[in-house]
Amino acid sequence: MTSNADSMPPAHQEPPSFPSPTFRISSIPIFGKLILAPMDGISDPPFRLITRRLGSAFSLSEFINTLDYDLHKHYQHSRFAFQPRERPFGIQLLDNDPQRMADCAAEIYAEYHPDFFDINLGCATSRVASRGAGVGLMRTPEKVAQIFQLVSRAVPVPLTAKMRLGWDEDTLNYREIAEIAAANGAQAIALHGRTGKMAFRGKARWEPIAELKACLPVPIIGNGDVTTPALARQMLAETGCDAVMIGRAAKANPWIFSWRERSEVTPDEVYGLIRYQYQAMQPYYPEGAILPFRKFLKAYLEPYALPKRSLQAILTSKREDQLFKRIDHLFLELGVLNLNAAETDFDKFMQNW
Ligand SMILES: Cc1cc2nc3c(=O)[nH]c(=O)nc-3n(C[C@H](O)[C@H](O)[C@H](O)COP(=O)(O)O)c2cc1C
Repeated sequence: MTSNADSMPPAHQEPPSFPSPTFRISSIPIFGKLILAPMDGISDPPFRLITRRLGSAFSLSEFINTLDYDLHKHYQHSRFAFQPRERPFGIQLLDNDPQRMADCAAEIYAEYHPDFFDINLGCATSRVASRGAGVGLMRTPEKVAQIFQLVSRAVPVPLTAKMRLGWDEDTLNYREIAEIAAANGAQAIALHGRTGKMAFRGKARWEPIAELKACLPVPIIGNGDVTTPALARQMLAETGCDAVMIGRAAKANPWIFSWRERSEVTPDEVYGLIRYQYQAMQPYYPEGAILPFRKFLKAYLEPYALPKRSLQAILTSKREDQLFKRIDHLFLELGVLNLNAAETDFDKFMQNW
């Protein structure tokens, strides 16, 4: 496995193909306007690497709960892992205790050398939010200030924030919290246009993203309900945000980071991706990749509207040989002429970077 970080401090080389960065997180140049959102159980190292290769502008880890990290130290080691090619890479911290977050950030930095840390002010899961972490932090502005103060003193890299509109409709304090975060060291802010109470229900509102962009001096990243390249363009145009963060839609269409509709992606490409990703997941899932891969596979196959029974047969395959026998059969039916070539092409695409 290509493990966590290279031990060298980050070097930020600007790729020659881009004339200038889209924006910067402090001094880190960011190229591109689309970014994979952090997603627990989804944005693991192989999926992040794929989306980076396809155009996502930086990588952000799944959340690291520093309460758990503090108790167990080696908690889910693979959640910190990244490849040097993924830089800029940020580690997201989730907790409600400023000092613990700062202490853990220092330890994590010493071991992994991420390029930045992100503070989670948006997780709405009840056990997280009810203890005042994630979106729960938006109810304690003074704690938000303290977190940014203490963590930025503890690590020599920039901080960013990812937040929601507020706890609920009666407390839409995104502007106050964003200002506090920025005044205390946040160098970029991602805003998901929903309240904590909404979780994932209802429609994300984009006007607050425009509002933050208009009043804050740091880059603003818009997030919420962007499912197509057209909607990403719309969010950029309507809000003036510096970049767009895409979560759920990326699961079915990682090619969205190349500004491609899923309908434009050929079965050859999908097959190549499936083969590549499954292999790339092996080292990160010692108990086997079949189960964690299933959610991706389901999303990749969804557009083909397969008969329920065929889809079920694939998704419930328990052995790797059985799984790929079924997948191979399906993609031959979908018109892939040379499965080996499709696999090799995607592999080359991932290596040639
Ligand atoms: C399965 C799942 C896991 C998530 N995990 C995280 C996380 O670890 N950290 C975080 O800040 N947001 C997390 N989110 C929220 C997303 O980053 C994003 O804000 C949200 O999905 C809205 O964007 P979308 O409409 O493009 O999906 C998660 C979302 C989903 C669906």
